[in-house]
Formats: sequence, structure tokens, C-alpha cells
Amino acid sequence: MSENENAPYATSTVTNTAETPGMAQTPFSLDTVKKIRTIHLERAKAEGEKFSMLTCYDFSTAQVFDRAGIEMLLIGDSAANVMLGYDSTLAITLDEIIPMVAAVSRGAKRAMVVADLPFGTYEQSPQQAVASAARLMKEGGAHAVKIEADARMADWVQALVTAGIPVVAHVGFTPQAEHALGGFRVQGRHGTADRVVEDARALAAAGAFCILMEMVTAETAERVNQAVGAVPTIGIGAGNTADGQVLVWQDAMGVRQGRMPTFVKQFAQVGQLLEDAARAYRSEVRAGSFPADEHTFN
Ligand code: KIV
Repeated sequence: MSENENAPYATSTVTNTAETPGMAQTPFSLDTVKKIRTIHLERAKAEGEKFSMLTCYDFSTAQVFDRAGIEMLLIGDSAANVMLGYDSTLAITLDEIIPMVAAVSRGAKRAMVVADLPFGTYEQSPQQAVASAARLMKEGGAHAVKIEADARMADWVQALVTAGIPVVAHVGFTPQAEHALGGFRVQGRHGTADRVVEDARALAAAGAFCILMEMVTAETAERVNQAVGAVPTIGIGAGNTADGQVLVWQDAMGVRQGRMPTFVKQFAQVGQLLEDAARAYRSEVRAGSFPADEHTFN
């Protein structure tokens, strides 16, 4: 890390005008941050600046999203579905996700790399969570971990934070608890809002640097934002009040086919583009027009 990697970005501990009289204050903007760290997300929230997160599972895509300025890359357990073809996120193991985390870490120069703790790798005890998270950081190079949790797991978050591991706490609809929650259901309805708000409050108090809320009503999301104070929030299917947003990239870019959840917006049709390009390649190979002279060694 270069010495002035984050200069001139003032952080909560380095406020330039106060400490350097006469020096002009550099306005904060995430656009000027060379390497995204937790302090920058806190600062962004304080300044009312929004940030973006996308899932990512490989080196080349990490390079593309990093160039695009996406602030956070999440190696989510959604890799189980979109990368490995499992029916459920519950199936993915640490050994399967770690090589993806390592590949994304090698591709991302600026973005913060956040890795999911897969189902079955942390529930037994805070110690188990620390051991699994340490593998994601040591072998995968992750900068932070995400844990699906509720208020009962505040001790887990505290143990991770005590071990020096930045934590994103995932509340609301938590896909690993699909069976316990009665299926894919929006949370915050039918008297469940208080629980979601309390989960977020307890996990933020335990030291999570970010709260991610999935599939909650807009009103619940607003209450979570209020409850966690200065801690940044990220939404997916949580309306527009969170400080950041996340989507599974294959959904956002139109790679996945079929019915999409209503909270997904497709920003491109990459699946169709790839299919068309593959068809064009096949046609030229079959017609004998590829490779042409310019692709041939003489
Ligand atoms: O695994 C994942 O991709 C996630 C996001 C949907 C937040 O948890």
C-alpha cells in the first residue's frame, strides 16, 4: 500500500482544515477514493453520497466492475445458483467459494471485496464464524465478510469484529433461512417489521460496519436506516432509502433468463449479446470464413 493511498481524502480522524490551518478543504467524493475502505463508506453516508455493490465471482468480471467504479464487490453465496448451478444457496461450501473470492480479489484494485459466509460454516459458534471468516480473508483475500444474522447472533458479529474482521450484517429476508422464514417472503409485513429493525439495531451495535437488508418493505427499510444511525445500509428489494444498493450481476445485466424478482432492473441484455456473438462465431467457423488471413501466422 502506498503511503498516501487515500490522500487527500479526509476521514473522520483526519479533518484537513481543522488540523492544517490555511489549507483548503478537499470536498469528499467516493469518485476520488483510490481504494474503498470502511471509513469511506461511513464518510459517504455522512455526506449523503450513495454507493454501489454488485455480486462478482471471477477475475475478469472483477476487473470490468472495478473499472466501472463499483464500490463493493460481493462474492455472495448466490454463486451456488449462478456459477455452480445448484438449486439453493445452501449447497455452496467454503472450499467452493474461496477460489472465487481469491479471483475477485486479484481483479479488484479499488473496490472493497466482501465474501459471504456460506450456510453451515458459522452457525455453531462465534469461534466457528471467526475460523471460516479468517479463511475467506487469508486464502481469498477478502476485505470483509457478510453474515446472514439476526439479533441472537450479535455475539457472532462482536467476535468477528474483535478478530479484526469487518462485517456486513445481512437482515430482512435471509435466503439461507428460506425454510425457517416460510419461503421467499418480503419481510416487514404482518407484524415482522419490529423484528427486522431490532435485528439491524443489535447487529450494528455489535460492530457491523454495514447493514444489508433484503426484501423488506420501504417503511421497514426507513426504520432500519433510522435505527442504525451512522452505519451505512445497503438495500436489495428495500426501496430507495438505503445508502447503497446491491444486485446479483447476472440479474442486473440480463444474463439470467426467466422471471426476475420485481426489485431487479436489467441494465443490459448481456445474455442475448453473448448468445448472438456465439452464434456469429459458430456460423463463421462452419462457413470457413474464420480464421481469415489476418488471424493466420505466415
Ligand atoms: O448471495 C448474494 O448474492 C447476496 C445478495 C443477494 C445480497 O446475498
